[in-house]
Amino acid sequence: MPKLTVLTRDGDARTVDAETGLSVMENIRDNGFDELLALCGGCCSCATCHVHVDDDWINKVGPPNDDEDDLLESSDHKNENSRLSCQIEMTDDLDGLTVQIAPED
Ligand code: FES
Repeated sequence: MPKLTVLTRDGDARTVDAETGLSVMENIRDNGFDELLALCGGCCSCATCHVHVDDDWINKVGPPNDDEDDLLESSDHKNENSRLSCQIEMTDDLDGLTVQIAPED
């Protein structure tokens, strides 16, 4: 199982065993991080699953798609590492991925 490290808004880090085939959002939610609201359930329509991908991983994870980028534009906390975690599928290639839950808008 690939590892996923999640930093909370306070900067606390926890590493979990991630399930492949699920999104990063689902892995975060299923591991009890209640800061990540993910209100739309992964339909790419709420932007409450916003994360900042660690610098070492952003190239591998890649940029947001167009719809995702439009939604991210509504956030005051968008930066060059921003992604909606429901739009990132967890794969074995992402073993070690680190993301931080973005501040609330
Ligand atoms: S969960 Fe709503 S956009 Fe990701």
